[in-house]
Parts: sequence; structure tokens; C-alpha cells
Amino acid sequence: MFRNARTTLTAAAALCAASGAAMADEALRADALEWFEPIPMNPPALENNVVTDARVELGKQLFFDPRLSRSGVFSCNSCHNVGMGGVDALETSIGHGWQKGPRNSPTVYNAVFNIAQFWDGRAEDLAEQAKGPVQAGVEMASTPERVVTTLESMDGYVEGFAQAFPAEEEPISFENMARAIEAFEATLITPNSRFDQFLQGDDGALDEQEKRGLAAFMATGCASCHAGVNLGGQAYYPFGVVEKPGASVLPVGDRGRFQVTETAGDDYVFRAAPLRNIAITAPYFHSGTVWELEEAVAIMGVSQLGAELNEQQIADITAFLETLTGQIPDIEYPILPDRSAETPLPDEM
Ligand code: HEC
Ligand code: HEC
Repeated sequence: MFRNARTTLTAAAALCAASGAAMADEALRADALEWFEPIPMNPPALENNVVTDARVELGKQLFFDPRLSRSGVFSCNSCHNVGMGGVDALETSIGHGWQKGPRNSPTVYNAVFNIAQFWDGRAEDLAEQAKGPVQAGVEMASTPERVVTTLESMDGYVEGFAQAFPAEEEPISFENMARAIEAFEATLITPNSRFDQFLQGDDGALDEQEKRGLAAFMATGCASCHAGVNLGGQAYYPFGVVEKPGASVLPVGDRGRFQVTETAGDDYVFRAAPLRNIAITAPYFHSGTVWELEEAVAIMGVSQLGAELNEQQIADITAFLETLTGQIPDIEYPILPDRSAETPLPDEM
């Protein structure tokens, strides 16, 4: 009798605790949905571009083709390795002539959801962005003319551009190269992370620590800058709202958006970095000098919030950030068009 009553009581208490936990999860989810959105399962529509299969396939070839660079060494994938979280895992990227660039390579995954491209947002969209690295001296060091000559020299590209831009008289152009790459990049999205599963109603997708981390991410103020579908990538803030990090993390020579707008208020202002897949895109910050996610979280606390987060908060927030790793798409390495006698030779190694 006594034993039975006890069992019933325990069961009732367990049931109560369980429904309490379910209510707490529901409240946490409601809060989170005020700030964040899951990544959609399908690529978003683009302005001034249509994501057709032919365009995506062509864009993929271009993304992997080192012949877009003057040396014949660097492709987009060299610095945005799609098998490695869309980054190069270097402090700052190495490009043409073994030059070390000034900034860390951000991931191409989910870049389509950012309001503008680059750490300082200087390119409006992915098509505008794609023209930058092809010409940049420290990246691929080519010219629009050289790229067009290269593409026109290969039958495979003549056909590929004709299929991808069927209505156009001159399908091969620098502009269309950029549009095809943009169409491919729009497919580089990573839905279905554990965080997104939680947002979509699965209480069990996050464990207790990860849920505490999510709550802390909102309560301490991280979410006021890192919100939306990419948890960032939407607006610009000084790196060091409260306290500027030291020069090893924030090199004095890189003044961020000031270089774009030349407005005093934009000194050391950068785009709040998108945090999707952050656990697999080390090293961190535009300087790429921080390799541990915990350390990046602690630096953010001090620099952006003026708060010394305690060890528990740092561990919890880091555990939460690790749930932002999504489903990486299957990308089959493309066969690239054969060169011809007209294809420009590699130059200036
Ligand atoms: C030599 C290395 C290198 C190569 C090659 C390269 N990139 Fe980048 N990429 C970078 C770096 C570094 C940045 C950040 C630069 C900055 O913010 O000033 C960047 C930024 C980007 C971004 C912006 C992402 C964001 O979140 O803002 C995209 C998209 C991108 N590159 C796509 C490409 C494409 C497409 C190609 C090929 C046409 C390419 N990259 C070639 C190093 C490279
Ligand atoms: C006032 C706006 C703001 C707040 C608040 C803020 N951040 Fe940031 N965050 C930024 C900016 C801007 C950057 C880009 C810094 C740079 O240029 O390297 C950044 C970068 C990061 C990075 C590095 C991303 C990468 O790809 O290298 C992480 C991680 C990060 N923030 C996490 C957090 C966490 C966790 C919090 C809360 C403790 C937080 N942030 C609070 C604006 C903010």
C-alpha cells in the first residue's frame, strides 16, 4: 500500500516536472522565434537572377575552376573549401603569388542570406561579390578580359553559358560569370541544424546545456546583433562597442567600414558576423587570430557587451553555438571543360 502510494506520487512528480520542462521549452522557443528563423530547405529566390539547373551547374564549374585565376592555381574553392565548412581554415587567406591577404575568409555557406557581402559589407550581393576576388591582386589577379577570353576558348564553357543564358545574344560575359556563380552559391545553404529542429518544435533537439546557452545568448545581448536567419550578417557595429580588443585581435590598420564609407562613425565598424556553422569555421574574427570558439565568445562579452561572462555562461553559449552546424549539401566535384590552343597559359606564378 505504502509502496504503491509512493510510486504514484513519484510518477505524479515526474509527470509534473516533465510538463514543466515542456512549458519551459515552449517559452524558450517563443523567445527564440522573436529573434531567429530556421534556414529554409530550398534555395531562396535571387534579385535579377534565376536559379536554373543549367546556371547552377555552370556556376559550380566556375567555382571550382582555377583557370579563372591568372596563375591557374586559385579557384574560389581554394579559399572557400566546400568540404571544410566553406572556409580555408587559415588565419588570413593566401592568394596570387603566395601573398597573405589582410582578412580571414568567411564561409560561402548561407552567404546568400547576408544583407551584403564581406566583413565590411562592401559588395551588395553575391554576383557583385564574385567579380572582386577574380580581379583582386592578392586573390586571383585576373582581369575581366582575360576571364572572358579563357571562357570563350573552351567549347564546354561556350555550351554551358549558352544553356545557362539561353535568351542572350552573347551568353559569355564577366557579368554572366558572376551571375552563374551567384546561382551556385544560392544552393550552398545548410538547413536542419539541431537549433533549427528546436525552433521547428523538437524539444529534444537541444540538451539542457545547449538550451541554457540559447537563453544566455538572448539574455546577455548577443542576439541584439546576431539575429535573423544567419544569426548575424544583417547590420554593422563597432568591433569594440564597449572596449576595443587588443591589436592582435583587432589590427589597427584595418578600419573596417571606414574604408568603404569614409565616415568617422564607421571607424572599426564591421558586419556582425553570421554565426551559422561557426563551430566548423575557425579561426575567428576578420583577423583570424582566435582559434577557440570559447575564446571568441569571451572576447565578444567584453568587447561588445562590457560583460565578463563567467565560465559557465561561456561554456553554455559555446555549446549552443555548436548546435548551429547544419546539413552540408552533397557537392559532386564537377568535370571541367577541356582547354584549347586558345586558352591563355598560366602566368606570373
Ligand atoms: C585567395 C583567397 C580567396 C579566393 C581565391 C576567393 N575568396 Fe572569397 N573571400 C576571401 C576573403 C579573405 C574574403 C573576405 C574579404 C573581406 O571581407 O574583405 C572573401 C569573401 C567572400 C565572400 C563574402 C562572404 C561573406 O559572408 O561576406 C563570398 C561570398 C566569397 N568570398 C566568394 C568567393 C567566390 C565566388 C570566389 C571565386 C570567384 C572567391 N570568393 C575567391 C578569400 C578568397
Ligand atoms: C554590438 C553588436 C554585437 C554584440 C552584442 C555581439 N556581437 Fe559578436 N560580432 C559582432 C561583430 C561586429 C563581429 C565581427 C567582428 C570582426 O570584425 O571580426 C562579431 C563576431 C562574432 C564572432 C566571430 C565570428 C566569426 O566568423 O569569426 C562570434 C563567435 C561572435 N561574434 C559571438 C558573439 C556572442 C556569443 C555574443 C554575446 C556574448 C556576441 N557575439 C555579441 C557584433 C556583436
